[in-house]
Parts: sequence; C-alpha cells; structure tokens
Amino acid sequence: MKIAVGCDHGGLEHKDAIVAHLKERGFEVEDFGIHEAHSVDYPDIALPLAQSVAKGENALGILVCGTGIGMSLAANKVKGIRAAACSEHFSAKYTRLHNNSNILCLGGRVIGVGTALELVDLFVDTEFEGGRHQKRIDKITEIENNN
Ligand code: RB5
Repeated sequence: MKIAVGCDHGGLEHKDAIVAHLKERGFEVEDFGIHEAHSVDYPDIALPLAQSVAKGENALGILVCGTGIGMSLAANKVKGIRAAACSEHFSAKYTRLHNNSNILCLGGRVIGVGTALELVDLFVDTEFEGGRHQKRIDKITEIENNN
C-alpha cells in the first residue's frame, strides 16, 4: 500500500517520525514535505496530497498541522476526499471503519509523536466495514456532487 504524508511547520517532527515509521513497517511512502522548518500555508500541502489520494496514486494520506483542523478543512475540498482530524484512538479507528476516511489529519501541537504513530497504525490497519455505512458515504458523495 502506498501512503502520502505531508505537514506544515506545526507538524514537521511528527511527519518525519510518521514517514520513518511507515517505511519501517514496509509501506511505500510519498513525502509531500515540508522538509525543513519554515512557515508555509497548510492548503499548499493539503491540496497536492489530497489530489494524489483522490486520483488513486496513494491509497491513504496523513496530514499534520498544528491542530489537524486546517489540513482537514483544505483536504475535504477535494472531491472524493474524506479527511478526519483525530486526536484519540477510537476516532482514528472508527473513521476508517464507518466513514471510510482516506486521509487522517493530526495536530502536532495537540498530541505527542508516540500517540501520533499509534493513531497512524490504527488508521492504516483498519478496513472500511461497508454495509449500512456505504449508503451514508453515498449521501456525502451526493452532497459533494450537488453543491
Ligand atoms: C500554523 O500556525 C497553524 O495555524 C496550522 O498549523 C494549523 O494548526 C491550522 O489549522
């Protein structure tokens, strides 16, 4: 599975740890930066990463900013993206199981690196449950297509 990872200046340490962790686990990783500490606008990272997930070039994405919120707002503007900002284990698991989220957003100023890696593992290891949840996803897609 190929996974896209990116961050702004609020999440660089977390992003680098996530990239190393996923590679160590054997995943192919596309690193959308940033690569050194300098101030950037989070939509400039979220957009190309989200487009790569929407096109199927990456199966899943992980975005880190200060709160995880700005990245999720920006990524969710791309058709086909379901980005979820999570800071605890239950949400990181259930957003895959029930929402079929394809991007996990984390807050580098909200959670530590250790928790971030655990949430990433839960996210990438959990499969969408389908069934009754699919029709709810279909309704989200309908909203997206009509608004
Ligand atoms: C950058 O200072 C900060 O606003 C950004 O990382 C993020 O938290 C936005 O949601």
